Amino acid sequence: MSLFAVKPLSRIMAESEGGKHSLKRTLGPGSLIALGIGAIIGAGLFSLTGIAAAENAGPAIVLSFALAAFGCAFAGMCYSEFSTMIPVAGSAYTYAYATMGELLAWIIGWDLVLEYAVGAATVSISWSRYVVTLLHGYGVELPAQLIASPWQPVTLADGSVIHGYMNLPAVLIVVVISLLLITGIKESANVNAVVVVIKVTVVVVFIAAGWAFIKPANHVPFIPPNTGTFGEFGWSGILKGAGTIFFAYIGFDAVSTAAQEARKPQKDMPIGIIGSLIICTILYILFAYVMTGLVPYTEFRGHAAPAALAIAATPYVWLKTAVSLAIIAGLTSVILVMLLGQSRVFYSMSRDGLVPMIFSDIHPKYRTPWRSNLVFMVFVSLFSAFAPISWVGHMTSIGTLFAFVVVCGGVLIMRKTNPDLPRPFRTPLVPLVPLLGIVVCLAMMFGLGLSNWLRLFVWLGIGLVIYFSYGRRHSHLQNAK
Ligand code: ALA
Repeated sequence: MSLFAVKPLSRIMAESEGGKHSLKRTLGPGSLIALGIGAIIGAGLFSLTGIAAAENAGPAIVLSFALAAFGCAFAGMCYSEFSTMIPVAGSAYTYAYATMGELLAWIIGWDLVLEYAVGAATVSISWSRYVVTLLHGYGVELPAQLIASPWQPVTLADGSVIHGYMNLPAVLIVVVISLLLITGIKESANVNAVVVVIKVTVVVVFIAAGWAFIKPANHVPFIPPNTGTFGEFGWSGILKGAGTIFFAYIGFDAVSTAAQEARKPQKDMPIGIIGSLIICTILYILFAYVMTGLVPYTEFRGHAAPAALAIAATPYVWLKTAVSLAIIAGLTSVILVMLLGQSRVFYSMSRDGLVPMIFSDIHPKYRTPWRSNLVFMVFVSLFSAFAPISWVGHMTSIGTLFAFVVVCGGVLIMRKTNPDLPRPFRTPLVPLVPLLGIVVCLAMMFGLGLSNWLRLFVWLGIGLVIYFSYGRRHSHLQNAK
């Protein structure tokens, strides 16, 4: 069998239903939108908006948010087409298997570990930082060695610098969320919904409370003139700003990994993916407009907590605590949906024989891939506890963009190879929209620089070694099982 053997759609669909290995279909449109918002609004909005405004776009960061939203919308429509046509847990991995063959499917499945597992580890480390800061504000101090990885220097109150042993709060949140995920998809979706309500409320309150204190002068000039260097203000600054804040949009695609647990995926998948994207885009644009209206964008430069700086320009001091809570809540649901997505992608890969069967073992009572959740709990915890995280955020972005490019390409291929298949959601203006999706995502990937490309290739290289030593030999398709 060829490395490019595609898995027939009829077989994918037949295998996805029934049996003791199947997941439980319980999610409706509201839960799917909440999963999307749960994964999208996190650290990106609260910390990157200020940085990108100060360094790249000024008040025109609002336009950067709109631009990145277009790139995501193109990809989001392609995800919607696939997830209604092939409503299974593997998401981009399965779409690639059906269109481009096993090798590329493997590459994407492995690449998604960067987005979901490594992404969850990265976000858990941010979660730890925010919790430690919040507790510090209330006079509760955790031992410095237990809140940082061995790679991370910590400055003590007396000025001495030590290195940590491990980041214990980051491990704790990964363990708690993994255990929650094991207890059931509905239970996890309910907790996610509560967290989403908290963070959306705070974002709306920030916008409403800050609106009256916007100083119009802070929005002039709206597009500060370019300094002569690419990416420093002007139109190129808007573009570079879009690349930076792209991280804030990551997560809407994770909705597609819940396709096998949606009650009516054909109808509800586009609602979940595009609905969450539209809601977050509106909130992001308004948030950025208020933030740059409260404080001159130049003051955000080098500021560790830009949202707090903006709040200081209003009389509402309590908003600072509310925003801290929203960030912690936001990061919690991002970790939840990322870990959920990770276990679902490996569930599909395991059902195809490409990774060991342990990843598709469904708990008899909870109907969740519990052993997979446990394996990833350990893997992600190790990362959270000990990893140097300075570069993993960009790894998450480049890995995600790569998956988007493949999904957009997959729509083009599928329209040629299976033009007559029923498509409950059709991407409009094909081939224009998928092509624009590919171009915009590739442009943002190039913006991430050579070192991140190299890391991506190293990661994919490790994946290929595993594929040729395990996946290919055990593949059900290759062995015609
Ligand atoms: N979009 C998520 C965040 O901003 C990953 O934290």
